[in-house]
Parts: sequence; structure tokens; C-alpha cells
Amino acid sequence: MSGDLMASGRRPGGRAPDEGATAVAHPNIALIKYWGKRDERLFLPWTDSLSMTLDIFPTTTSVRLDAAAGADVVTLNGAPAHGEALRRVSAFLDLVRERAGLRQRAVVHSENTVPTGAGLASSASGFAALAVAAARAYGLGLDATGLTRLARRGSGSASRSVFGGFVVWHAGTTAGTDTEADLSSYAEPVPVSHDALDPALVVAVLDAGPKEVSSRGAMRRTVDTSPLYRPWARSSADDLTEMRDALLRGDLAAVGEIAERNALGMHATMLAARPAVRYLSPATLTVLDSVLQLRRDGVAAYATMDAGPNVKVLCARADAQRVAGAVRAAVPGRAVHVAGPGPGARLTGEDE
Ligand code: DP6
Repeated sequence: MSGDLMASGRRPGGRAPDEGATAVAHPNIALIKYWGKRDERLFLPWTDSLSMTLDIFPTTTSVRLDAAAGADVVTLNGAPAHGEALRRVSAFLDLVRERAGLRQRAVVHSENTVPTGAGLASSASGFAALAVAAARAYGLGLDATGLTRLARRGSGSASRSVFGGFVVWHAGTTAGTDTEADLSSYAEPVPVSHDALDPALVVAVLDAGPKEVSSRGAMRRTVDTSPLYRPWARSSADDLTEMRDALLRGDLAAVGEIAERNALGMHATMLAARPAVRYLSPATLTVLDSVLQLRRDGVAAYATMDAGPNVKVLCARADAQRVAGAVRAAVPGRAVHVAGPGPGARLTGEDE
């Protein structure tokens, strides 16, 4: 999180609303997954999760208050948003307005450089950027931790994109009042031995189209019907403990092993849902085979998948080109990107 943002945004009781603000945020990929809400209204998850914010595919979002407008106007990549996308942004802005004690509607422009809805965390960068820009435009005066709580209400994983590098999102508690529950669930940076780890994430885009089942619906179905959900949630808590240790030691092989098993376990919970949710495609399995082969050849490479067929391969930065080459050879013609740890969300330009 930029010091500028914290310094400019923090004032007890908030600050006067600005005409507008623009923020940029990057996606994050979870190494310990968030899958399942305990409280859908407050976006409180069943489990803690942990991610790496990327240095590719930023989203830039501007929010301008418009006293004359009767409704929020939202454009996504230059096209007017409608339906569910508009409803989600407007519901999020309602929350911001309620907290700010303001009624003005907003004009929102969002430019996303990641394929939307393809399991590449576009909602994470999208709602993190929207939270930072809207909080500033409406004068909420939130610090970075407060922004993670706010971003959470747009999309759970967005809470983690407020910070750069490795980030944990605490599940918090549903006990107590709404305010107590809300305060308990926030994201914060995780201590990491960066020099020893020096990680890269090779992103194989196997299908950039929107997914058939939204992650929101899929996680609800998994929690409600999958007999494997609770065992996975329990083992995920142990994975997190081990992951924190591995990050602190800078042990890339351990980080990768834990991330891969956590992701495969999450997909197992979905496959056991009724009816099953299956995001993994034949191309996904082809890439997973190439990752196994890399390991047999002595390269520390480990895969993780989200709510889509795309595969992200964690490896050392020094091995990233070799890993990317192996993945390209496995799925010729598909886009393969190399990412490193990226920065937290921040205000940009004149709005700073
Ligand atoms: C598989 O954050 O997109 O990417 O909170 O309903 O908006 P909502 O879901 P979302 O879910 C992300 C799930 C995941 C795993 C992760 O990022 O931890």
C-alpha cells in the first residue's frame, strides 16, 4: 500500500468528498484458497486465505460523483455495464454512500487488462481499485486495513489486492454484531524471505471467455452440498500454518507443494458438489502433466487453478522462462504470461 494513499486518505471522521479519484490495482492469485462464505451479506469466508499480488494485468478505475445523475453510470473497458456487473458495482457504491452519508450517484470508468470472468482474478483487481477510488471520491478516510474490509464487500478476494506481495486475508468471526464481524475480517501483508524465495508465476490462459458457473454460485453450491467441503476447510487451516512457515524460510518447494495440494483439494470439493462444478478442462490437465514433467526434470514448479481452466505455475524467477517454454510447448497457441510479485492498490495521477 502506498504511503501516499494512507497519508492522503486518513482522517478521523473522514474527509470532504473529492470530485473524483482514480486508482490502480493488480490481481492476486491465492496459494491458500478462499472458497466458501460463512456470511454472504458481509462476505465473511469460512477459511483464511493467502495470495500473491501480481505485477501484470492491472485494473484502473475512476470514480466521479455526479449530483445530477439519478443512477450510477458504469463503463467497463469502454462499454456500458449492465445486468449483474452493474448491479454489483452499484450495490458496492451504495455501501460506500451509506458509510459516507452521501447520496450522490457516481460515474465509474474501469479499464481491465485481464480477460474478465476467466478465473484470472479480474474481480479482485476490479473491486480493489473501485474500493480505493470510491473511498477517496466519497471521502471515507479509510486506512489500508479499512480498505481491505471495504474491498471484501465487493469481492472477497479483492481484499487481498489492496496490499502488494504476499497477503493473508483473515476469515474473522461471525459472532457478535455486524460491526464486530466486519472488523474481524481483513487482509494484511505476510512476512516473507523475499530474496530466498524470488518467485514467479507463469500464467497459462487456456480459455479467456467468461465462465459458465460464477465463482460465487459455485462456492455456494460447494458449501451447501459437497461432503468434501468441511474436511478441506479444516485441512486448509493446517496448510496456512505450514505456508506461513515456508514463506518465512523462503522455501519455494514447500510453498509450491502446499499451494498445489490446497488448490487440488479445493477443486475436489467442487467435483463432489451436487451437481458437480468442474472448471478444469483437458488443456488444464495437459499443463498439469507438463508441470509434473518439469519436477521430474528437477525444476521446482507447482500449479494452482481458480474458478476456471487456466493454470498458474509457481516457480523461481530464474526458472520462469524455462517453465513458460514447457507450458507453451504443452498447449501451443495459448497465451502464457510471466508475472512477479506486484504492488498494492494506490491512487494515481492528479487525484493523489
Ligand atoms: C477460486 O473473490 O471471486 O479465486 O467473494 O463471491 O466475489 P466473491 O468470490 P471471488 O472468489 C475467488 C475464489 C478463487 C480463490 C481465491 O482467490 O482465493
